[in-house]
Amino acid sequence: MRIPEQVIENILQKNDIVDVISEYVSLKRVGKNFMGVCPFHNDKGPSLSVSPDKQLFHCFGCGAAGNVVGFIMKIRNIDYIDAIKFLADRVNIPLETSSYGDNEVEKIYEINIQAARFYYSNLKQNSDKIKYLLNRGLDLKTVQRFGLGYSLDSYDALLNFLKKRGYDEKLLLKAGLVSQKDNKIYDRFRNRIMFPVFDHKGRVIGFGGRVLDDSKPKYLNSPETPVFKKGTNLYALNFVLKKGMPDELILVEGYMDCIKLHQHGIENTVATLGTALTKEQARLIKRYCNTVYLCYDSDAAGRTATLRGIEVLHSEGLNVKIINIPRGKDPDEFINTFGVDEFKRLVEKSLPAIEHLIFASKENKNFDDPRDRSNFIKEVIDILKILNSEVEIHSYAAKIYELTGISLQVILDQLNKAKNIKSNNWNNNYVNRNNNIGGNNFIEPGYKKAERKLLMLILKNDDIKEYIIQRINKEDFITPSYKKAAMLITERGLKEFNDIVKHFEEQNEIQDVALIFAEEDLTTLDLETIEGFIKTLKRTNLERQIENIKLKIKEKEKSDGYDELLYLTKKLEELKKQLSLL
Ligand code: CTP
Ligand code: MN
Repeated sequence: MRIPEQVIENILQKNDIVDVISEYVSLKRVGKNFMGVCPFHNDKGPSLSVSPDKQLFHCFGCGAAGNVVGFIMKIRNIDYIDAIKFLADRVNIPLETSSYGDNEVEKIYEINIQAARFYYSNLKQNSDKIKYLLNRGLDLKTVQRFGLGYSLDSYDALLNFLKKRGYDEKLLLKAGLVSQKDNKIYDRFRNRIMFPVFDHKGRVIGFGGRVLDDSKPKYLNSPETPVFKKGTNLYALNFVLKKGMPDELILVEGYMDCIKLHQHGIENTVATLGTALTKEQARLIKRYCNTVYLCYDSDAAGRTATLRGIEVLHSEGLNVKIINIPRGKDPDEFINTFGVDEFKRLVEKSLPAIEHLIFASKENKNFDDPRDRSNFIKEVIDILKILNSEVEIHSYAAKIYELTGISLQVILDQLNKAKNIKSNNWNNNYVNRNNNIGGNNFIEPGYKKAERKLLMLILKNDDIKEYIIQRINKEDFITPSYKKAAMLITERGLKEFNDIVKHFEEQNEIQDVALIFAEEDLTTLDLETIEGFIKTLKRTNLERQIENIKLKIKEKEKSDGYDELLYLTKKLEELKKQLSLL
């Protein structure tokens, strides 16, 4: 749903940040601002400051910051659009879709339903296609419940069916049900088993179509449409929610995995449909429950997806457990072979994500062999890097010691080293060690503070702006949100918080932007300080390039690309020289 800008502006105007926040936190006026106890961390004193002039909040304790939308997103754990809807509702601004040209969207939902019905009736009339599904262990009740269907082996069956019902070709194209080539319009899905994809409200937003044999591509999916956006949805969540939300969700990859588990009564299952789990999906889950069982394939791709999934889910504060399916099978195949009770046993045996990863890494390693030991340490460090609580890190390091005899200190030292390489040993002049951004044990790198100061200065004063822009450009910015902000400020000429923040939707990015505006002005405006910030950025960039080249050189040394090695070494010298001249 797209909400016009004027409407959003109106919503922001009517939702005064002080009013909204005081519904959650009791606020006291202190000078120009209001102060209260921050709801986002374990606050003792009142660290939350709310500015009625700027319409911003900022916590000095945990670094949380933003406008009224950011506050609602964070406190209710909802996404941008839902926060806007919530605020619209709060002040009785109607958002009914039809008044904003969303007729088209409604029409697309309607077309999708018609198409799903058409595919379903095709299936009913093709017993050999039904047989395919029965052979795969589905029963007819399940087929009906999930609305499975069949797209005929024809270029215009659906097209004609929908045209006869009065929908025009343009809209069918927009709905992604037909495609166009050289002015010819034809059915996108042909001779495939059709899986309607529902959103969490049960509306049909798109389709996946599977071939009945081994041809490629195995699955064809709807393209992105006004109602179908990749990575925002979880397949079968609508069925889960109908039953009332369980405490735990099982996350699988595929259509068949998900449907099969539902059929066998494991009805708290949703699927990501083969794409990497996104932050948005993690937030969607977090709205409903706190624990997720990841149950991806046990092949190499599945393992990578698992690692990434854990990281995303953890960062949204979800508990993650891993259901480990042995012997390279997916959940559907596992149940076909061993039955659902055996699957339930796997669920019972599942380990918390980090423990699972450590055990998996330990497997097949001989700890008397130094190479195995060093590989193990490397893998384990990658795993521990996901964690941000010192307590957790220590307890896992202790567990690793128990398992392998590798000393706690070695692991912690290696971990610190790895973390420093990750942040590239930036000079730490501006590291603010008290500022516990986002409540993590994460120390903000010095360059980020410098980026923020520079952006603040650019916004404050046109003369300084010119000076800074001559010295650096947006490419010198490192933090992605600040790079984008630099572009919006210097190239698009945006100045106001509300204009800039419109271009950001992620909570942590909104926070980054708000912190620019919360940044204190310099007490005295001396160029030396400004040069210091600029140098920090330049130095960081150079150091990153140097690290990169060093890595490349290491790789090349293994192979024998002599010319390239020479080139890289020269480049390295050059960068080092530039660095020393800063
Ligand atoms: N997928 C896709 N496009 C592909 C392959 C896969 O969109 N070409 C998505 C589908 O949603 C699929 C999921 O990724 O369900 C997992 O892929 P895979 O494991 O290959 O398929 P299965 O779900 O196991 O399908 P089946 O059991 O029918 O072979
Ligand atoms: Mn499968």
